Amino acid sequence: MVVNRLRIKNYRNFIEAEVELNKSLNIFIGDNGQGKTNLMESIYVASIGRTFRLNSENELINFFENKSTIEIYLTKNNYDIKIEINLEKNKKKTVLINGVKLDKTSEMIGILNNVIFTPDDMKIIKGSPIERRKFVNIDISQIKPKYKYLLNKYKKVTTERNILLKNYYTNSENKDIISIWNDYLVNIGTEIILYRNEYINNLKKYAIDIHSNLTGNKEKLNISYYTNLGNIDNLKKDEIKKIFYEKIKNNFKNELERGSSMFGPHKDDLIIKINDKECKYFASQGQQRSAILALKLAEIEIIKDEIGEYPVLLLDDVLSELDNKRKSYLIEHIEGIQTIITTTDDTDLNILTENFDKKNFYINQGKIRNITN
Ligand SMILES: Nc1ncnc2c1ncn2[C@@H]1O[C@H](COP(=O)(O)OP(=O)(O)OP(=O)(O)O)[C@@H](O)[C@H]1O
Ligand SMILES: [Mg+2]
Repeated sequence: MVVNRLRIKNYRNFIEAEVELNKSLNIFIGDNGQGKTNLMESIYVASIGRTFRLNSENELINFFENKSTIEIYLTKNNYDIKIEINLEKNKKKTVLINGVKLDKTSEMIGILNNVIFTPDDMKIIKGSPIERRKFVNIDISQIKPKYKYLLNKYKKVTTERNILLKNYYTNSENKDIISIWNDYLVNIGTEIILYRNEYINNLKKYAIDIHSNLTGNKEKLNISYYTNLGNIDNLKKDEIKKIFYEKIKNNFKNELERGSSMFGPHKDDLIIKINDKECKYFASQGQQRSAILALKLAEIEIIKDEIGEYPVLLLDDVLSELDNKRKSYLIEHIEGIQTIITTTDDTDLNILTENFDKKNFYINQGKIRNITN
């Protein structure tokens, strides 16, 4: 898949910007605070429908304006697609695909596939399990529409079930009602676990080799799926359900005391190790970054297997901590994948990509200039 053109209006610090992207490599250079991440973010918003930052939707619109537009022209499976997003302060955004307005903006997920790596993604390793679940959730949602639906349902189920646990003794009927919520929890929860297990096994399949190449075979990455039901790999759906039911049966007293659901995919984690040591505690900055890069590059392969085309790769200022060997492996690896890289210093990058098909752009105060020579 290729993003051919991007037009943004009143988006963050861009008043009006338009870029014709190269189908291979695109390098955006600019000083701090000029709009590099904003540009990446606009593509991400056109893909997932919301920002990866903490901001509210209003904050995507330029401080001094009320409305903003993102237009993306892409080619996917030989079809030309235009994605248009209209943002207006304090109103719901609208999304148009080839001029047709979507009823639900969430329907846009999966049209423009992307894999993004920003400095913020370091939290996949450093952060709490919530961050790793988020990472896995966003990835699976891009390729499996049903997964997002299951997640929303599961969230509602745990919320309702928790309310019931908290008020269990207030009503004698709750004894019967809880078993209905238990069924929901186990059935939907098990579906989610199966999706995650498959996805993490796929990640493993690609990420370990990629990481080994990235580190010149010096380091060994390992990733594993943690569920508080125990190791469920190789188990069938019914076997997982059985364990799930047993767990809630045996821990029901505890759940009542705490007033919350203790077992299920809302407690999942992803364990990431390098040379058998957990990354979170032992890996250096560059090693952590390499591990995440390997996960992201694996994600690209999984999306390709699923949709038949590579997604767009967005690398926002994440190469600076990689040594030149790792950078050069990355550059070779991304051949054939449309990639957008932002950086404050492109010296190394330009040497490494000297003979590449690429475009260079300069971003300054929300203005973009093509500086390809
Ligand atoms: N809604 C908005 N309206 C106008 N400007 C905004 C808005 N939101 C953010 N900005 C400004 O956009 C500028 C550029 O931000 P951005 O994060 O894209 O910089 P950057 O080029 O990625 O910098 P760095 O190299 O430090 O990561 C910031 O100075 C910020 O104040
Ligand atoms: Mg930035």
